[in-house]
Amino acid sequence: MIGFRIEGGARLKGTVEVSRAKNAILPIMAASVMSDGIVIIEDVPDLRDVETMSAILDVLGVGVERKEDGSISIDPSGLNNPFAPYELVSTMRASFFLLGPLVAKKGWAKVSFPGGCAIGPRPVDLHLKGLSALGCSIRIEHGYVIAEAEKLKGTRIDLLGPNGPSVGATENVMMAATLADGVTVIDNAAKEPEVVDLANFLSSMGAKIQGAGTSTIVIEGVNGLDGTRYRTIPDRIEAGTLTVAAVATDGEVEIRGAKPDHMKTELEKLQEIGARVEIGEGSIRVFGKGDLKGCDIRTAPYPGFATDLQAQFMALLSTASGVSTITETIFENRFMHALELRRMGADITIDGRTAIVRGVERLSGAQVMASDLRAGVSLVIAGLIAEGTTYVSRIYHIDRGFDKIDKKLLSLGARIWREEIG
Ligand code: UD1
Repeated sequence: MIGFRIEGGARLKGTVEVSRAKNAILPIMAASVMSDGIVIIEDVPDLRDVETMSAILDVLGVGVERKEDGSISIDPSGLNNPFAPYELVSTMRASFFLLGPLVAKKGWAKVSFPGGCAIGPRPVDLHLKGLSALGCSIRIEHGYVIAEAEKLKGTRIDLLGPNGPSVGATENVMMAATLADGVTVIDNAAKEPEVVDLANFLSSMGAKIQGAGTSTIVIEGVNGLDGTRYRTIPDRIEAGTLTVAAVATDGEVEIRGAKPDHMKTELEKLQEIGARVEIGEGSIRVFGKGDLKGCDIRTAPYPGFATDLQAQFMALLSTASGVSTITETIFENRFMHALELRRMGADITIDGRTAIVRGVERLSGAQVMASDLRAGVSLVIAGLIAEGTTYVSRIYHIDRGFDKIDKKLLSLGARIWREEIG
């Protein structure tokens, strides 16, 4: 099996460029099916999730082509089969984002329920509630959601879920509402930068959207959407991951092409624990590790601490002095990495939704397994600081959302190799 072999102990040094945001690109690819023209998305990273979304678009009859300049071109003129099959949807939950755009454009859609997921049950009730409110009739047959509506109708929808607003449901409903009759108001909308980016993308196609980035989004339906050319925001999770890796290794690294405004809470947390991090306009500089001390983290919807950076911080805090607590409020069971970090010598106990991390002197290299995307990359960070050799298996999880993270780290002096690890 192909995995990462990591020889710990190297300090990261140099500059590294952040890729464009996976979580912005995937819903934008889904929204593109509603366009009457060709959509070009610039600077698309090489990710398994982008390949999966491209494969689904292909099944729908939508042409997707990757160009040499790193852009992808999406031609929805051949869209004739609004059907997203289980085999593909089950590998990537974000494919469920197609339900709203497809029903808005074609009047019906059949999309498989997303598969089970290693980070908790992840329901889709809010997506369905929102689309029903827009006038979709929804039925569930043989593991598929079938949505039908001759014409969607604008309305007022509250999308608050038990753990706060939902990014995906907000995006699904916002996309569908752009082609509805009349005005839609989404209350308790998610405020994540990726929601704002999607709204900007839709607006560049002629949609009329106000309030994205606040908890109330107002969408005035239009009759059609034009083609466009768009470049998404940088990936705040990749930028945060690289920053944490630089701090953890006592590195001197400039992370370029980032948008620190989107990462305020996490960067402040790094400063609070004593990391030497300087925040520039479009870059983040790390000057060594500093005297790291434990802290308390509670994940929350944006602008709270991102759940997608929780695992990476856990790896970092595992050798900070004192006791840290990490409370996960968004997803249940998102502590799989804690068990693997323990195999590397971390002192972590789990009490319900809280992980208690007692800083240890050092981690030691071990064979560990990535259970999901962010958990996987936290093990890479742990491997970078551990004594000896770490083997991370199941790295296909990491490749879903990080564009050649091994190459980026290698260019900063890390000793990480992709190889057969048995
Ligand atoms: C998106 C991100 C993911 C990130 C997450 C939270 C993408 C492709 N993925 O996922 O990386 O970790 O936001 O920032 O953008 N919920 C319901 N009912 C629903 C939908 C969600 O109860 O119908 C719950 C979820 O179980 C969870 C919370 O709402 O507890 C937030 O989930 P949500 O924001 O929807 O996450 P995703 O959009 O799936």
